[in-house]
Amino acid sequence: MKIAIDGPAGAGKSTVAQQVAKRLGILYVDTGAMYRAVTLTALVRGCSIEDEHSLREMLDAIDLMLEIKNGVQHVYVDDKDVSEAIRSREVTRHVSTVAAYPLVRERLVDMQRRIASHKDVVMDGRDIGTSVLPDAEVKIFLTASIEERARRRMEEFEKKGVHADYAELLRDIEERDRKDSKRAIAPLKQAEDAIRLDTTGRSIDEVVDRIVTLYREKI
Ligand code: C5P
Repeated sequence: MKIAIDGPAGAGKSTVAQQVAKRLGILYVDTGAMYRAVTLTALVRGCSIEDEHSLREMLDAIDLMLEIKNGVQHVYVDDKDVSEAIRSREVTRHVSTVAAYPLVRERLVDMQRRIASHKDVVMDGRDIGTSVLPDAEVKIFLTASIEERARRRMEEFEKKGVHADYAELLRDIEERDRKDSKRAIAPLKQAEDAIRLDTTGRSIDEVVDRIVTLYREKI
């Protein structure tokens, strides 16, 4: 059984997906973290994010690994835990450019399908229901108003003691959604058979309950 959760930036996908996985005792895979890890590595190693071929060469040369510890996904690049570093604003600003390259997507989508091929999973991203796992039994398209999404991002930063500007966050989210929706390959889009859930003003528990119910109806 596969659950695909897609949607725009900051809609609450990872929080919801993580809790759904915990309730059902199945694996959680955050695919955005994979694109972020490639972006971070390129920035750290001085690999141009404008050069698709160099990025692919870099990607082929690194060991990218996902591991779940206490229900939380950790990402490793060559055995170094980069789970925190991939959340930086710099990575966030460049990730949509890197994620638009077919050579990058090809490699990561292959990894994602391999992970899902022998396990029950909840996978979140932008193209899971439309492209990575088109046969997923449950497909969710999670949304929330842009204001609410920017507010949530702001709260996340504040919890970490980092100052963030609301207007700037809102602009960054809009820009990322625009790039993710407009790219030629596997753009952010609701799958025809996905259920749209708007999380604006709804509690996480409410959304998780709904997805768990949908899953149980299918088994
Ligand atoms: O989910 P998150 O916001 O961490 O994703 C970061 C970026 O990775 C997205 O803005 C998008 O450019 C890219 N991404 C993607 N396909 C996925 C998951 C993420 O292109 N399945």
